[in-house]
Amino acid sequence: MRHRHSDYMLWAKTQGRARFNLATSGVGSFPLHALPVTIDQLEINGDSTYGYAPLQHAIGKKCGVDPDTVVAAAGTSMANHLAMATLLDPGDEVLIEQPTYELLTSMLLYLGAAVKHFARTEESGYALDPAQVRHVITRKTRLIVLTNLHNPSSVLASETALREIGGMARSVGARVLVDEVYLDAVYTNTPRPSYHLGPEFVVTSSLTKVYGLSGLRCGWILAEPSLARAMWRLNDLFASIPAHPAELLSVVALENLDTIRDRSRKIVEADRALLHEFLARQEAVSAPRTEFGTTAILHLENRNIDDFLTRLRTKYETSVVPGNFFGLPNHFRIGMGVDHEMFREGLQRIGQALKV
Ligand SMILES: Cc1ncc(COP(=O)(O)O)c(C=O)c1O
Repeated sequence: MRHRHSDYMLWAKTQGRARFNLATSGVGSFPLHALPVTIDQLEINGDSTYGYAPLQHAIGKKCGVDPDTVVAAAGTSMANHLAMATLLDPGDEVLIEQPTYELLTSMLLYLGAAVKHFARTEESGYALDPAQVRHVITRKTRLIVLTNLHNPSSVLASETALREIGGMARSVGARVLVDEVYLDAVYTNTPRPSYHLGPEFVVTSSLTKVYGLSGLRCGWILAEPSLARAMWRLNDLFASIPAHPAELLSVVALENLDTIRDRSRKIVEADRALLHEFLARQEAVSAPRTEFGTTAILHLENRNIDDFLTRLRTKYETSVVPGNFFGLPNHFRIGMGVDHEMFREGLQRIGQALKV
């Protein structure tokens, strides 16, 4: 039977929330009233066919690429789906990092790909290690899928590792799909999209996680022009025409990106400082220290994870994401950048729930 669901998404939509919600992955919402836009700048219908030209240009400018390499999509979610559906036939061999964002694996299974994993090991601090790809790549590999920053750990991949993986992909005629939805959370020396590393790279991203603009669903794919055209053609079967008011608002957002990103930066950084203090004094949990990103994956030592998660939720009104969704039992993921006081209280409650 074909895979047609995501267990993680069902959980996130129905059980993710709590009074102290640390089950988040992006920063807090950026409010519409803070966007420099007036109603007369908006319109219901517009001239959007294979992209809305001003939005194509704005995304191209942000990413340092020509607009004809940009395929607009409803969030990174649809961008991933469209990219994979264009690149793959049923039965194609795909390598995907483990652990990773569950939706990526679910989409590959839905598309009928033959999924193989390469490890990002906890011992290495979840580093992207080309040697792990070398272990599993074959002449039949069509696609290599990874996230940067890595979800769940927020670890940044080195350009050297990405280039080496690109070289391996090229040698067997495969592509590398890099989901960069968290990459702009690298606030200093933000790396360029890995699309710039070579034509085998296909990149997906959006204005959701790092900018608090999820509701605009402003996402995109970067791919070489012939591939981008094939994606636009396939998109006719999926989404056809996007919501034009969202396109107009997205153009305004892209003109004001630095201001929008800075709004939540202080919260992300203050939350991370608290997390590092917490990890330094807590023996019951461990996690790689990261400099950037909005999520962290914590390893629970010598405790029963199910009991802990239930206690945390029922007695301490705090939600975190169970590590099972990343194939990491005995772990849980927490999110930063929404509300500093909520994060402080949530961490304190995690500390209390650990005391049993
Ligand atoms: C790695 C990754 N890609 C994509 C998404 C979804 O992004 P969007 O809201 O832009 O569709 C998420 C959401 O958690 C994610 O973690």
